[in-house]
Amino acid sequence: MVKNAIFLFFVLLFVGCEKKEAPQLNIIPRPLKYWVSSNTMKFDQNTRIIYEDPNPALRLMAEDLAHQIENHTSFTPDVIALSMAKSIGNDITLTANLSDSAYGNEGYLMQHNGMKFLSIQANSAKGVFYGIQSFLQLLSPPGGEKPDEIVLPAIYIEDRPRFIYRGMHLDVGRHFFPVSFVKQYIDLMALYKFNTLHWHLTEDQGWRIEIKKYPRLTEVGAWRDKTIVGHQSDRDKLFDNVRYGGFYTQEEIREVVDYASLRNITIIPEIEMPGHSLAALSAYPEMGCTGGPYKVSGEWGVFEDVYCTKEQTFTFLEDILTEVIGLFPGTYIHIGGDEVPKTRWKNCPSCQKRMKSEKIKTEEQLQSYFVRRIEKFLASHNRHLIGWDEILEGGIAPEATIMSWRGISGGIEAAQMGHDVIMTPGNYCYFDHYQGDPELEPLAIGGLTKVSDVYAYEPIPEELSSNRARYILGAQGNVWTEYLAKPQDITYMVLPRMAALSEVVWSPKEKRDWKSFYKKLPYHFSLYEAMGLTYSQSVNNLCFRIKEDENKINMVSIESEIPDAVIHFTTNDSMPGIGSKKWTTSLPVSQIHTIHAAAFVDGKQIGKVFTKTVSK
Ligand code: ACM
Ligand code: ZN
Repeated sequence: MVKNAIFLFFVLLFVGCEKKEAPQLNIIPRPLKYWVSSNTMKFDQNTRIIYEDPNPALRLMAEDLAHQIENHTSFTPDVIALSMAKSIGNDITLTANLSDSAYGNEGYLMQHNGMKFLSIQANSAKGVFYGIQSFLQLLSPPGGEKPDEIVLPAIYIEDRPRFIYRGMHLDVGRHFFPVSFVKQYIDLMALYKFNTLHWHLTEDQGWRIEIKKYPRLTEVGAWRDKTIVGHQSDRDKLFDNVRYGGFYTQEEIREVVDYASLRNITIIPEIEMPGHSLAALSAYPEMGCTGGPYKVSGEWGVFEDVYCTKEQTFTFLEDILTEVIGLFPGTYIHIGGDEVPKTRWKNCPSCQKRMKSEKIKTEEQLQSYFVRRIEKFLASHNRHLIGWDEILEGGIAPEATIMSWRGISGGIEAAQMGHDVIMTPGNYCYFDHYQGDPELEPLAIGGLTKVSDVYAYEPIPEELSSNRARYILGAQGNVWTEYLAKPQDITYMVLPRMAALSEVVWSPKEKRDWKSFYKKLPYHFSLYEAMGLTYSQSVNNLCFRIKEDENKINMVSIESEIPDAVIHFTTNDSMPGIGSKKWTTSLPVSQIHTIHAAAFVDGKQIGKVFTKTVSK
């Protein structure tokens, strides 16, 4: 009865509301459709969070929302079941009975009804969760004086994601991050409506997941006795000689899986094979071709020692995967497959015997044999294999999903063959790359992937027909941690690039607009500040590059990501102002010695003055 009353309110009262297209809403990712009314909605100490019952997921969300509102205001809304609500006042209602297939499994409808209550409706609790995330981004960031009421423009939002796979990756192999940080990372993912965490749990530099049957994986494999300092190409290798490591117990893994699940995030564990396996080999050297000894690596790179293809290794890996499957309820298991030198296999009697008996001609095909066997094993446990795009070489396993990282060609090839694909091309999706001028940034692995580059990424390659495009499930930001040792190093690299990626994977392609995204960033920066998170403002800095032109002359370019920015510069050691020369094109290196430049919008300087001395 009360439910019916709610719907009557929707129909009768929202219709009367004045609707107009909103010029700016701070919600990231941008919703599919929204209107902001000139009316207001108000929440205060009388506001309750009413959830549809019996639905335990909605009850938990209601309690969490009440808690979040308590963080922002002086009041804590009561949480009550819909069946207990005698009437609806200036409340917030959460219901999962929308029964409208247009919203799918993750969409939601949020509307203020008759200048009274705010409803968040969806087909499932997942959709309601995303509606709550949007609602929270309507509030001012917490901190400072706590107001007695929340007054907001009345809102109407229809929203659903563009892609079903919206991922963030985290490498805990090169550096280990505690459960508390992994949860914080998951919170950030939830804020931006990501639904998949790709947890890279094993590496040459450390094995991070407890496996009961093989305790040495963590007793030995989780620890290295030194770590390289800086870029190894810079000079002779320098090590810190400090023992380093850590791992997650199975209990901790379960805790993280449950934490993620409450936030609509599925975790895909990655257990790397046959390469990037030095940590495991150091614990169980009999699984390698040479028998070792091996050492957990203290430096980065690709190593020749990989798993041997003898029978014993498959038993070992299947035992490990059996425990992994027991811990992670999601469908996908990532088995790596990238960067596998074939040197050891070429010289190994067991591997060569395997090639003969299986009539395998090349070592690439031997890797394919390896992956197919693991796929069969996973399939027998109702799990689905994902691998990096190298698993295309030598023949893709029949049902494998491909993660395309070496550009997009692997993704295109796999989609053409009817395989599912997740796009993670380095130039757009590698958040371990620099995001601004390397001289202004903390040490990173290399590359340059600016926030605006991430934002400009289009996951569906032009080469694919619409029939094939449907195999592109979505995209993912990858965070490799060779140069990221602490939680704040990671948040600096992903904030705000993951916000940019969230619009790529959630928002409609035709509504993506860099200028309006950029305008939302100050609000999000203040959210990060309220959360005490380190983040990057390099989007406001100039980026300086030297590139050869078609006549092989080294040209200096200075770029700004700020919409409508004008760059002014000086070459005479004075500070640039709006009266200084405008930078309009690139200049030959020979014409410049020291340059000072800054970006201006409407005559106001944005970001820092940038100084560069060009060596000829
Ligand atoms: C990778 O970056 N090696 C997948
Ligand atoms: Zn071998």
